[in-house]
Amino acid sequence: MVELRGAGKSYGNVRALHGVDLAVRQGRVTCVLGDNGAGKSTLIKIISGLHQHTEGEFLVDGEPVRFTTPREALDSGIATVYQDLATVPLMPVWRNFFLGSEMTRGRWPLRHLDIARMKRTADDELREMGIVLDDLDQPIGTLSGGQRQSVAIARAVYFGARVLILDEPTAALGVKQSGVVLKYIAAARDRGLGVIFITHNPHHAYMVGDHFGVLRLGTMDLNAARSEISLEELTNHMAGGAELAALKHELAQVRGVDVEGLPEESDLHVSAAASSAASSEKVS
Ligand SMILES: Nc1ncnc2c1ncn2[C@@H]1O[C@H](COP(=O)(O)OP(=O)(O)OP(=O)(O)O)[C@@H](O)[C@H]1O
Ligand SMILES: [Mg+2]
Repeated sequence: MVELRGAGKSYGNVRALHGVDLAVRQGRVTCVLGDNGAGKSTLIKIISGLHQHTEGEFLVDGEPVRFTTPREALDSGIATVYQDLATVPLMPVWRNFFLGSEMTRGRWPLRHLDIARMKRTADDELREMGIVLDDLDQPIGTLSGGQRQSVAIARAVYFGARVLILDEPTAALGVKQSGVVLKYIAAARDRGLGVIFITHNPHHAYMVGDHFGVLRLGTMDLNAARSEISLEELTNHMAGGAELAALKHELAQVRGVDVEGLPEESDLHVSAAASSAASSEKVS
Protein backbone atom coordinates (compact mmCIF):
# COMPACT_ATOMS: atom_id res chain seq x y z
CA MET A 1 0.00 0.00 0.00
CA VAL A 2 2.80 2.36 0.95
CA GLU A 3 6.44 1.98 0.12
CA LEU A 4 9.59 3.95 0.73
CA ARG A 5 12.65 3.18 -1.37
CA GLY A 6 15.92 4.70 -0.31
CA ALA A 7 13.96 7.64 1.07
CA GLY A 8 15.60 10.43 3.00
CA LYS A 9 15.02 13.88 4.38
CA SER A 10 17.34 16.74 5.14
CA TYR A 11 16.37 19.77 7.17
CA GLY A 12 18.79 22.28 5.70
CA ASN A 13 22.10 20.59 6.33
CA VAL A 14 20.80 18.26 9.04
CA ARG A 15 20.33 14.86 7.45
CA ALA A 16 17.53 13.42 9.59
CA LEU A 17 16.78 10.38 7.44
CA HIS A 18 18.77 8.56 4.81
CA GLY A 19 18.30 5.54 2.52
CA VAL A 20 15.22 4.18 4.27
CA ASP A 21 13.28 1.23 2.83
CA LEU A 22 9.87 0.48 4.27
CA ALA A 23 6.77 -1.36 3.05
CA VAL A 24 3.25 -1.28 4.46
CA ARG A 25 0.97 -4.13 3.46
CA GLN A 26 -2.74 -4.70 3.84
CA GLY A 27 -3.64 -6.51 7.05
CA ARG A 28 -0.08 -6.26 8.35
CA VAL A 29 1.59 -4.28 11.12
CA THR A 30 4.94 -2.72 10.28
CA CYS A 31 6.78 -1.62 13.41
CA VAL A 32 9.34 1.17 13.41
CA LEU A 33 11.55 1.25 16.48
CA GLY A 34 14.35 3.60 17.37
CA ASP A 35 15.91 5.78 20.01
CA ASN A 36 15.17 9.45 20.60
CA GLY A 37 16.15 11.50 17.58
CA ALA A 38 16.53 8.42 15.38
CA GLY A 39 14.17 9.87 12.78
CA LYS A 40 10.89 8.08 13.54
CA SER A 41 8.74 11.21 13.53
CA THR A 42 10.48 12.48 10.40
CA LEU A 43 9.63 9.20 8.70
CA ILE A 44 5.93 9.39 9.49
CA LYS A 45 5.78 13.09 8.69
CA ILE A 46 6.84 12.23 5.14
CA ILE A 47 4.15 9.55 4.83
CA SER A 48 1.45 11.71 6.42
CA GLY A 49 2.14 14.70 4.19
CA LEU A 50 3.57 17.11 6.75
CA HIS A 51 7.07 17.08 5.26
CA GLN A 52 8.43 16.02 1.90
CA HIS A 53 11.25 13.61 1.28
CA THR A 54 14.38 15.07 -0.26
CA GLU A 55 15.81 11.82 -1.62
CA GLY A 56 14.61 8.42 -2.80
CA GLU A 57 11.08 7.38 -3.66
CA PHE A 58 7.73 7.35 -1.89
CA LEU A 59 5.00 5.22 -3.49
CA VAL A 60 1.33 4.75 -2.68
CA ASP A 61 -0.33 1.79 -4.41
CA GLY A 62 2.74 1.53 -6.59
CA GLU A 63 2.56 5.14 -7.82
CA PRO A 64 5.20 7.72 -6.89
CA VAL A 65 3.67 10.51 -4.82
CA ARG A 66 4.75 13.71 -3.11
CA PHE A 67 2.13 15.00 -0.71
CA THR A 68 2.18 18.72 -0.02
CA THR A 69 -0.46 18.70 2.73
CA PRO A 70 -1.78 16.19 5.28
CA ARG A 71 -5.15 16.50 3.49
CA GLU A 72 -3.67 14.80 0.42
CA ALA A 73 -2.41 11.91 2.51
CA LEU A 74 -5.82 11.60 4.15
CA ASP A 75 -7.52 11.62 0.76
CA SER A 76 -5.45 8.60 -0.23
CA GLY A 77 -6.52 6.86 2.95
CA ILE A 78 -3.46 7.49 5.12
CA ALA A 79 -4.51 8.52 8.63
CA THR A 80 -2.15 9.44 11.44
CA VAL A 81 -2.88 9.27 15.16
CA TYR A 82 -0.41 11.54 16.93
CA GLN A 83 0.69 10.96 20.46
CA ASP A 84 -0.68 14.28 21.70
CA LEU A 85 -4.10 13.39 20.30
CA ALA A 86 -5.85 16.31 18.70
CA THR A 87 -8.93 16.06 20.92
CA VAL A 88 -10.91 18.69 22.80
CA PRO A 89 -10.89 17.37 26.38
CA LEU A 90 -14.08 19.08 27.51
CA MET A 91 -16.20 17.95 24.57
CA PRO A 92 -18.13 14.69 24.71
CA VAL A 93 -16.69 11.54 23.18
CA TRP A 94 -19.11 11.48 20.24
CA ARG A 95 -18.37 15.13 19.46
CA ASN A 96 -14.65 14.42 19.33
CA PHE A 97 -15.28 11.41 17.16
CA PHE A 98 -16.78 13.70 14.48
CA LEU A 99 -14.60 16.73 15.12
CA GLY A 100 -14.14 18.61 11.86
CA SER A 101 -16.43 16.24 9.92
CA GLU A 102 -19.77 16.72 11.70
CA MET A 103 -22.95 15.18 10.37
CA THR A 104 -25.63 17.72 9.61
CA ARG A 105 -29.31 17.69 8.86
CA GLY A 106 -31.58 19.98 6.82
CA ARG A 107 -30.67 22.68 4.34
CA TRP A 108 -29.14 26.08 4.81
CA PRO A 109 -30.25 28.29 6.57
CA LEU A 110 -31.89 25.68 8.78
CA ARG A 111 -28.98 23.27 8.73
CA HIS A 112 -27.98 21.96 12.13
CA LEU A 113 -25.91 19.19 13.67
CA ASP A 114 -27.45 15.74 13.50
CA ILE A 115 -26.62 14.87 17.08
CA ALA A 116 -28.71 11.71 17.33
CA ARG A 117 -27.14 10.19 14.23
CA MET A 118 -23.60 11.14 15.32
CA LYS A 119 -24.12 9.55 18.74
CA ARG A 120 -25.56 6.40 17.22
CA THR A 121 -22.81 6.09 14.62
CA ALA A 122 -20.02 6.72 17.12
CA ASP A 123 -21.51 4.11 19.42
CA ASP A 124 -21.82 1.53 16.61
CA GLU A 125 -18.31 2.17 15.34
CA LEU A 126 -16.74 1.94 18.78
CA ARG A 127 -18.59 -1.30 19.48
CA GLU A 128 -17.51 -2.69 16.12
CA MET A 129 -13.91 -2.23 17.28
CA GLY A 130 -14.80 -3.83 20.60
CA ILE A 131 -14.64 -0.54 22.53
CA VAL A 132 -17.45 -0.27 25.02
CA LEU A 133 -17.86 3.04 26.83
CA ASP A 134 -20.57 3.62 29.41
CA ASP A 135 -21.50 7.07 28.26
CA LEU A 136 -20.59 8.81 25.02
CA ASP A 137 -21.70 12.11 26.55
CA GLN A 138 -18.83 12.16 29.00
CA PRO A 139 -16.02 14.59 28.15
CA ILE A 140 -13.25 12.77 26.30
CA GLY A 141 -10.78 14.21 28.82
CA THR A 142 -12.25 11.90 31.46
CA LEU A 143 -11.26 8.76 29.52
CA SER A 144 -7.99 7.02 30.23
CA GLY A 145 -5.09 7.50 27.83
CA GLY A 146 -5.61 4.04 26.37
CA GLN A 147 -9.31 4.64 25.77
CA ARG A 148 -8.58 7.96 24.07
CA GLN A 149 -6.06 6.27 21.76
CA SER A 150 -8.66 3.60 21.01
CA VAL A 151 -11.29 6.20 20.12
CA ALA A 152 -8.78 7.88 17.80
CA ILE A 153 -8.07 4.54 16.10
CA ALA A 154 -11.80 3.78 15.67
CA ARG A 155 -12.31 7.28 14.28
CA ALA A 156 -9.58 6.83 11.67
CA VAL A 157 -11.07 3.47 10.64
CA TYR A 158 -14.56 5.00 10.34
CA PHE A 159 -13.35 7.87 8.18
CA GLY A 160 -11.98 5.44 5.65
CA ALA A 161 -8.33 4.99 6.58
CA ARG A 162 -6.59 2.19 4.71
CA VAL A 163 -3.23 2.93 6.24
CA LEU A 164 -3.05 3.83 9.91
CA ILE A 165 0.03 5.46 11.39
CA LEU A 166 0.41 5.42 15.17
CA ASP A 167 3.19 7.55 16.67
CA GLU A 168 4.18 5.99 20.00
CA PRO A 169 0.61 5.27 21.09
CA THR A 170 1.76 3.35 24.16
CA ALA A 171 4.64 5.58 25.28
CA ALA A 172 2.75 7.36 28.05
CA LEU A 173 0.66 4.38 29.14
CA GLY A 174 0.89 1.78 31.86
CA VAL A 175 0.94 -1.95 31.20
CA LYS A 176 -2.81 -2.51 31.22
CA GLN A 177 -3.67 0.53 29.10
CA SER A 178 -0.94 -0.42 26.61
CA GLY A 179 -2.62 -3.81 26.32
CA VAL A 180 -5.87 -2.06 25.42
CA VAL A 181 -4.19 -0.10 22.63
CA LEU A 182 -2.40 -3.19 21.31
CA LYS A 183 -5.74 -4.94 21.15
CA TYR A 184 -7.14 -2.23 18.86
CA ILE A 185 -4.03 -2.22 16.72
CA ALA A 186 -4.72 -5.92 16.17
CA ALA A 187 -8.40 -5.13 15.49
CA ALA A 188 -7.45 -2.55 12.83
CA ARG A 189 -5.07 -5.05 11.25
CA ASP A 190 -7.79 -7.71 11.22
CA ARG A 191 -10.09 -5.28 9.43
CA GLY A 192 -7.52 -5.20 6.65
CA LEU A 193 -5.75 -1.93 7.38
CA GLY A 194 -2.04 -1.55 6.89
CA VAL A 195 -0.60 -0.27 10.17
CA ILE A 196 2.64 1.57 10.91
CA PHE A 197 3.32 1.27 14.62
CA ILE A 198 6.03 3.55 15.99
CA THR A 199 7.35 2.54 19.39
CA HIS A 200 10.33 2.42 21.74
CA ASN A 201 9.13 -0.85 23.19
CA PRO A 202 10.22 -4.10 21.50
CA HIS A 203 7.78 -6.13 23.60
CA HIS A 204 4.83 -4.08 22.38
CA ALA A 205 6.13 -4.26 18.82
CA TYR A 206 6.60 -8.02 18.94
CA MET A 207 3.09 -8.64 20.26
CA VAL A 208 1.40 -7.32 17.11
CA GLY A 209 4.15 -6.80 14.52
CA ASP A 210 4.68 -8.61 11.22
CA HIS A 211 7.75 -6.64 10.21
CA PHE A 212 10.31 -4.70 12.20
CA GLY A 213 12.51 -1.79 11.25
CA VAL A 214 14.96 -0.21 13.66
CA LEU A 215 16.10 3.34 12.94
CA ARG A 216 19.43 4.50 14.19
CA LEU A 217 20.78 7.95 13.39
CA GLY A 218 18.43 8.24 10.46
CA THR A 219 19.14 4.94 8.72
CA MET A 220 17.37 1.59 8.94
CA ASP A 221 19.77 -0.38 11.05
CA LEU A 222 17.60 -3.47 10.96
CA ASN A 223 14.82 -4.53 8.63
CA ALA A 224 13.43 -7.97 9.41
CA ALA A 225 10.27 -10.00 9.02
CA ARG A 226 8.85 -11.63 12.11
CA SER A 227 10.12 -15.04 11.00
CA GLU A 228 13.68 -13.68 10.81
CA ILE A 229 13.99 -12.29 14.29
CA SER A 230 13.14 -13.32 17.84
CA LEU A 231 11.88 -11.03 20.57
CA GLU A 232 15.20 -11.47 22.34
CA GLU A 233 17.17 -10.34 19.31
CA LEU A 234 14.89 -7.38 18.78
CA THR A 235 15.15 -6.37 22.43
CA ASN A 236 18.91 -6.68 22.36
CA HIS A 237 19.07 -4.63 19.24
CA MET A 238 16.90 -1.88 20.68
CA ALA A 239 18.81 -1.83 23.93
CA GLY A 240 21.96 -1.18 21.94
CA GLY A 241 23.03 -4.78 22.58
CA ALA A 242 25.55 -4.81 19.74
CA GLU A 243 27.08 -1.53 20.85
CA LEU A 244 27.25 -2.62 24.47
CA ALA A 245 28.70 -6.00 23.52
CA ALA A 246 31.38 -4.21 21.53
CA LEU A 247 32.20 -2.22 24.67
CA LYS A 248 32.12 -5.28 26.92
CA HIS A 249 35.86 -5.60 27.39
CA GLU A 250 36.27 -1.91 27.96
CA LEU A 251 33.39 -1.78 30.44
CA ALA A 252 34.79 -4.79 32.28
CA GLN A 253 37.77 -2.61 33.34
CA VAL A 254 35.46 -0.19 35.11
CA ARG A 255 34.89 -0.87 38.78
CA GLY A 256 31.23 -1.31 39.72
CA VAL A 257 30.00 -2.11 36.19
CA ASP A 258 28.66 -5.62 35.86
CA VAL A 259 29.03 -6.88 32.30
CA GLU A 260 28.36 -10.55 33.04
CA GLY A 261 24.83 -10.43 31.63
CA LEU A 262 25.82 -8.76 28.37
CA PRO A 263 25.73 -10.94 25.26
CA GLU A 264 28.93 -11.66 23.33
CA GLU A 265 29.20 -9.78 20.06
CA SER A 266 29.27 -13.11 18.21
CA ASP A 267 25.83 -14.05 19.63
CA LEU A 268 24.13 -11.18 17.90
CA HIS A 269 23.81 -12.56 14.40
CA VAL A 270 21.01 -10.39 13.11
CA SER A 271 22.23 -7.18 14.64
CA ALA A 272 25.80 -7.78 13.58
CA ALA A 273 24.81 -8.57 9.99
CA ALA A 274 22.49 -5.61 9.79
CA SER A 275 24.89 -3.14 11.35
CA SER A 276 27.79 -4.25 9.20
CA ALA A 277 25.53 -3.77 6.17
CA ALA A 278 24.66 -0.34 7.46
CA SER A 279 28.25 0.63 8.16
CA SER A 280 29.53 -0.64 4.82
CA GLU A 281 26.84 1.53 3.25
CA LYS A 282 28.11 4.54 5.14
CA VAL A 283 31.64 3.83 3.89
CA SER A 284 30.50 3.54 0.29
N1 LIG B 1 12.14 20.63 11.71
C1 LIG B 1 13.38 20.22 11.93
N2 LIG B 1 14.45 21.00 11.64
C2 LIG B 1 15.71 20.58 11.84
N3 LIG B 1 16.05 19.38 12.34
C3 LIG B 1 15.04 18.54 12.66
C4 LIG B 1 13.66 18.91 12.48
N4 LIG B 1 12.89 17.88 12.88
C5 LIG B 1 13.73 16.90 13.30
N5 LIG B 1 15.02 17.31 13.17
C6 LIG B 1 16.20 16.49 13.48
O1 LIG B 1 16.09 15.25 12.83
C7 LIG B 1 16.51 14.19 13.66
C8 LIG B 1 15.40 13.15 13.81
O2 LIG B 1 14.32 13.70 14.54
P1 LIG B 1 12.94 12.95 14.77
O3 LIG B 1 12.01 13.90 15.44
O4 LIG B 1 12.50 12.37 13.49
O5 LIG B 1 13.35 11.79 15.77
P2 LIG B 1 12.44 10.71 16.57
O6 LIG B 1 12.98 9.38 16.25
O7 LIG B 1 11.00 10.96 16.28
O8 LIG B 1 12.76 11.05 18.08
P3 LIG B 1 11.81 10.96 19.41
O9 LIG B 1 11.84 9.54 19.85
O10 LIG B 1 12.53 11.84 20.36
O11 LIG B 1 10.45 11.45 19.03
C9 LIG B 1 16.94 14.82 14.97
O12 LIG B 1 18.33 14.97 14.96
C10 LIG B 1 16.26 16.16 14.96
O13 LIG B 1 17.02 17.12 15.67
MG1 LIG C 1 9.29 11.49 17.50
